[in-house]
Order: sequence, then structure tokens, then C-alpha cells
Amino acid sequence: MDEKRTILFVTSNSGKLDEARLALNPFGLNIESFRFNEEFTKIEEIQSSELRHVAKDKLRKAVTIVNNSSNKLGVMVEDAGFFIDELDGFPGVYSSYVHETLGIQGIIKILTGIENRDACFKCVIGIHLDDEELFFEGECKGQVSGKAVGTNGFGYDPIFIPDEGNGRTFAEMNSKEKQKFSHRGKAMEALRAYLQQRNQSPTSNQCSES
Ligand code: IMP
Repeated sequence: MDEKRTILFVTSNSGKLDEARLALNPFGLNIESFRFNEEFTKIEEIQSSELRHVAKDKLRKAVTIVNNSSNKLGVMVEDAGFFIDELDGFPGVYSSYVHETLGIQGIIKILTGIENRDACFKCVIGIHLDDEELFFEGECKGQVSGKAVGTNGFGYDPIFIPDEGNGRTFAEMNSKEKQKFSHRGKAMEALRAYLQQRNQSPTSNQCSES
């Protein structure tokens, strides 16, 4: 594929990478993961109450890392969080830490006996194209299930039932279905629509003017 249409996605999450490819490859955008010594690159996240701030900081770090080896390609990062209404949005920006420590069983336990199961996923994609930083957001509302169901996807997928999706968790859906409803699918669609609207490839001159 033409290198000019390649975006380097700096992530250590292969699930996110697969979903980005699924969303953007059909539109002629080649999504490659940035690896160092064959390893996925994990970027240290700042502590902030805003996903967007985290994404912005991640993007700048990613651009620095990538520019050390190549300054020709678009660079993308993504930050997501799981926000539970009854817990005032927790784990939110702490979703990664909570997933590693409490895990989904811990969340199920915390919510035992609680009627309000409303929750949402949010994600912010940050992309650096030439000298411009762009951000695209997506949100998906739903419910936290009482038990883990399904084996697809990653992270909190087995305990999240999106409002659209016939009562199934994300982990019961294949990636195409998840993409239709998901926070990431929506943010990727916003990115794709933006690029299409400006009728350009990620590295064209127009897009580089901020
Ligand atoms: P981060 O964006 O990598 O910081 O993700 C925060 C946490 O949310 C991690 O534990 C992810 O596994 C989880 N997460 C992010 N996106 C999704 C998703 O689409 N489904 C389920 N869990 C997710």
C-alpha cells in the first residue's frame, strides 16, 4: 500500500489496533502499529480527569517517539474510559488501572444490588498529520451487566451491554457489530468523515495547514 496513506497507531492494545484497521482500511487508510524492537509501544499516561488531555499528551509523546525513527507518516493515539453513572463516572480515566487491579469481577461485585446500571464508554482519538493535531470523540451508552458474558473483544467488553445491540454484551458481538455501536467506531467514523470531507489523504498539503 502507498506509504503516504499509512497512519502509525501508537498503542500497546492489539484489540484497539484491530478495531482501527476494521474501521479505516476500507477507506484506503493503512493502519500500522508502531513497534520498537518488535514490541508494541506503551506510552505512560498523565493523570488527568479529562480523556482529551490524556489523548493530547499521549499524542505529543507518540510524535516524539515516532519522529525519532520516521517523520513522514501520520501518527495516531487513542484514549478510552468506562464511566459508570452510579459511581459518579468511576473508573473513567482510571479504567486501565481498575481493569488491571479490580478487574471486571471487581466491578460486578461493587455494583451488586445496585439498580442503576447505566454506563458509557468514551474515547478520544488524537491524530497528528503533518503539523496539525486533530481530535475525534465517540461515546456509547449502555448498561453494566450482572455477570461477564461473551469471549470476544477486550477490557470491559464482557460486562457492557450497549443500548443498541439486542441486549448482548460487546463480548458477544463480532468486531463488525461492535464497531457499529461502539465509542471507537463512532470516533473512527468522525475521523474518516473529516478526511473524506476535505477530500484528501492524511499527508496532503491542505490537512497540514492548521
Ligand atoms: P486505555 O485507553 O488503553 O487507557 O483504556 C482504558 C481501559 O479501558 C483499558 O482497561 C481498556 O481495556 C478498556 N477499554 C478501552 N476501550 C475498550 C473497549 O472498547 N471495550 C472494553 N474495554 C475497553
